[in-house]
Amino acid sequence: MTYQNLHIEDNGQIRRITIDREAKLNALNKTTLAELSDAVASALASEMVRGIVLTGVGEKAFVAGADIAEFASFNADQGRALAREGQAKVFDVLHHATKPIVAAINGFALGGGLELALACHIRVAASHAKLGLPEVSLGLIPGYGGTQRLTQLIGRGRALEMILTGDMVTAAEALEYGIVNHVVDLPELLTKAESILNRIIVRSPNAVAAAITTVNAALGHTSKGYEIEIDEFGRCFGTPDFKEGVAAFLEKRKPNF
Ligand code: COA
Repeated sequence: MTYQNLHIEDNGQIRRITIDREAKLNALNKTTLAELSDAVASALASEMVRGIVLTGVGEKAFVAGADIAEFASFNADQGRALAREGQAKVFDVLHHATKPIVAAINGFALGGGLELALACHIRVAASHAKLGLPEVSLGLIPGYGGTQRLTQLIGRGRALEMILTGDMVTAAEALEYGIVNHVVDLPELLTKAESILNRIIVRSPNAVAAAITTVNAALGHTSKGYEIEIDEFGRCFGTPDFKEGVAAFLEKRKPNF
């Protein structure tokens, strides 16, 4: 498959997947999600690939979220389907992948962008990056597992503060909270991500796979949380707040709820 919005590069046994939709801050539209699903599946199936780095092109954004313009006219059922399909084809695949995946956060990681990084196993951020789940300002909640994965990573209090305020945190705050494992200057970002993978890929692939599966089991993915998120996310699409939030974003103004 040739990709419109992704670049694929191999450095030895490490595959780098770069999201390239710079004019829209690498926002995840349908095409990009379908390409990501294909690229991740093919990296996981390749015997040559032992680890994956996921990053965004440029220095402004890792991923600024799901594509707001694309879902602006969705109803509740379409909202639910959007979340369910994205989770099944991309976010859950990353989470459960048995090869190590490092997110190299090169700029804004917002909404679905932060959720994408949270689904990876390890996160490294550039020092200028900003991270957040701003969905409440669109009349929504995170729909790609963010309510579950952020809570598991940093605890209920901090997760609720980030999700309810919708405010961004700096890379330094993200490090303090435990959202990211390391913060480095942008020129060192990919080297840092790859150096972590280079430490992992010399270990037994069977043991690495078993360790990821086992650590994931500690997080209770079988809980109802992900289903409740899909349901509540969909329900938000049927509200006047959603219409106002999305209209405000597209008209470049503040929403009035
Ligand atoms: N979906 C669709 N388009 C997006 C987008 C998204 N999530 N994020 C940014 N874009 C687009 C903008 O509409 C703009 O397009 P245009 O040039 O055709 O008008 C372009 O990317 C550049 O973004 P802009 O908002 O002009 O840049 P900025 O520097 O003023 O602000 C952000 C940067 C990240 C603060 C701002 O783009 C933003 O808030 N994005 C949405 C974040 C969000 O709510 N994500 C969650 C979605 S569920």
